[in-house]
Amino acid sequence: MSDVILSVDHVSFRYDRSPVLEDVSFSVRAGEFVALVGPNGSGKSTLLRVLLGLLAPGGGAVHIFGEDPRRLRDRWRVGYVPQRPAVDRELPATVEEVVTAGRLARRGWQRRLTASDRAAIDHALDEVALGPMRHRRVSELSGGQQQRAFIAKALAGEPRLLVADEPVAGVDAESQRRFRDSLTHLVASHQAGVLLVSHELGAVAEDLDRIVVLKRRVLFDGPPAELASRGVSLGIHAEDLPLWLEGLG
Ligand SMILES: Nc1ncnc2c1ncn2[C@@H]1O[C@H](COP(=O)(O)OP(=O)(O)OP(=O)(O)O)[C@@H](O)[C@H]1O
Ligand SMILES: [Mg+2]
Repeated sequence: MSDVILSVDHVSFRYDRSPVLEDVSFSVRAGEFVALVGPNGSGKSTLLRVLLGLLAPGGGAVHIFGEDPRRLRDRWRVGYVPQRPAVDRELPATVEEVVTAGRLARRGWQRRLTASDRAAIDHALDEVALGPMRHRRVSELSGGQQQRAFIAKALAGEPRLLVADEPVAGVDAESQRRFRDSLTHLVASHQAGVLLVSHELGAVAEDLDRIVVLKRRVLFDGPPAELASRGVSLGIHAEDLPLWLEGLG
C-alpha cells in the first residue's frame, strides 16, 4: 500500500450554530483517485477548505504529507481548483500569466523560469486547450474558459495532491474529457493523489478508486462497484445519488 498523503481524522466544523461537518474521517493515498460527492450544502466545499488549511477545524485533525495544512512547507505540492473562482472584472492578468503563477508557486517567485517550467506551462495550456488564448485577459474569457484557466494553473505546478471543487461544472464535454485525461495522467504517471468534488461522475466513474459520500458525515467510503452494488448508478449525472441519499435520511 502506498503512502497516505491526506488524512482527515474525526473532523468537525461549524460556521455559526449548526454543524456543517461531524466526525468526518477518510484518507487519500499517493496514486489514488477519490471522488467526494454529496448533495448541495452537504459540506463538500467546507471540507476542502478545512483540509487545505483555509479554515480551522472545530475538532479533529487534518494532515497533508504528515503536516498540519496551515503550516505546510512546499505548498506547491498541493494544487487547488476552487469552486467557481471569482475573477475580478478588472484583473489585468492574461491566461498565460495565471497559469505561470501556478508554476512559480513551485519554483519560488524569485527564480527565473527554466525550459522545463515553460514546457510545463505550455503543456498545462494544451491540456485545457487554451494555447491559442494564452495572451487574452482572463477577465475577458467566458465562465467555462476561466474555469479551464484555473484548472491549467493547478496542473502547471504538477502537484502531488490535487484538490478540485467541481472543476468541470459549466465546462463543455470535450474539455471535461481532456481534464479527465490530465487527472488520470497525474495519478498514473506521477503517483499524485486526486480528490475531486463533482456532481457528474459519469466521465470519470471508471477511473475512480474510491467514492466518499458526504452529507455532514461520511455516509459511504468505498470503491464505485460497491456503491453500484447498493443500487446506486453513477450515470452521466449521478442522478441516482440524491435519491439514495434521501433514503438514508
Ligand atoms: N461562509 C459561510 N458562512 C456560513 N455558512 C456557510 C458558509 N459557507 C457555507 N455555509 C453553509 O455550510 C453548509 C455547507 O456548505 P458547502 O458550501 O460546504 O456545501 P457543498 O456541499 O459544497 O454544496 P454545493 O454542492 O452546493 O457546492 C451550507 O449549509 C452552507 O449554507
Ligand atoms: Mg461546494
